Amino acid sequence: MSSSSRKYHDRVARQYDTIYDDPYWHFHDELTWRMIKPHLPRDHSLACLDLGCGTGKWGLKLLKSGFATTFVDHSAAMVEQVRRKLEDMGSRAGKATLLAADMIKMPELPNGHFALTVAMGDPLSICSDPQAAANEMFRITRAGGVVVATADNKLAALDHYVQRGNLQALEAFVQNGRTRWLTSAQEEQFELTTFTPESLKKLFERAGFAVSGVAGKTILPLRHNKRLLEAEDAILRLLQLEKQLAKDAAAAGRCAHLQITAVKPIEAT
Ligand SMILES: C[S@@+](CC[C@H](N)C(=O)[O-])C[C@H]1O[C@@H](n2cnc3c(N)ncnc32)[C@H](O)[C@@H]1O
Repeated sequence: MSSSSRKYHDRVARQYDTIYDDPYWHFHDELTWRMIKPHLPRDHSLACLDLGCGTGKWGLKLLKSGFATTFVDHSAAMVEQVRRKLEDMGSRAGKATLLAADMIKMPELPNGHFALTVAMGDPLSICSDPQAAANEMFRITRAGGVVVATADNKLAALDHYVQRGNLQALEAFVQNGRTRWLTSAQEEQFELTTFTPESLKKLFERAGFAVSGVAGKTILPLRHNKRLLEAEDAILRLLQLEKQLAKDAAAAGRCAHLQITAVKPIEAT
């Protein structure tokens, strides 16, 4: 599974940023950053990690915020895109570390080191062993440190299986939560593990984390009608609605993606 995902991400790495450059993604990214920001370490000498960094969208923001940041992706072509962006960044790039590695096993990264890890764009769903990945995140997080990670929502994927009309496929999906990312080349199709808000919480708790919340992204299914993003001040108005709707944690159930925030307890070693 891991090698199919790597092949796919290696192929799309160079055009990746243009795929996600439209008003919907600007809205989505602003929402994400607003959810990450409260967890930035207060102490600027602490280290951050961008897991499944892709072209570095989140790690570069952390680096620009002044933190020493490690970028990890199992696609070497993605890591290369980050390296190129760093070339244009001047002295701040000196605080960046790049690593091509599979997040389920990262012996290169030290124990108890990172104060904030972000794993955005669902690398947890894409990887071959989400529990091993969560355990690794726990190992490398310092006591009191935070992980913010996204994953595919099993409950939202049910519609697809109902529309397909294949009862056997629906039964299998409800049992195991596994689905496939269907890209045109067969050898690049990779399996995804989906989670319910509760099963995602359990995954992190089994690793040792205390979970402070599971939110959904996005509650408003704006991808189905991007015209809503064209109205005056649309992004700010829609962010306001998301904030209001997110007050009820149950809203996560209808979202395509879940975002968990988990803390390594202070007493953990
Ligand atoms: C949808 S992209 C998101 C990229 C970036 N985090 C963002 O939000 O723009 C998912 C990334 O996770 C990486 N990934 C998937 N499985 C991984 C694994 N097992 N270990 C490390 N990276 C992985 C992919 O190569 C890809 O770059």
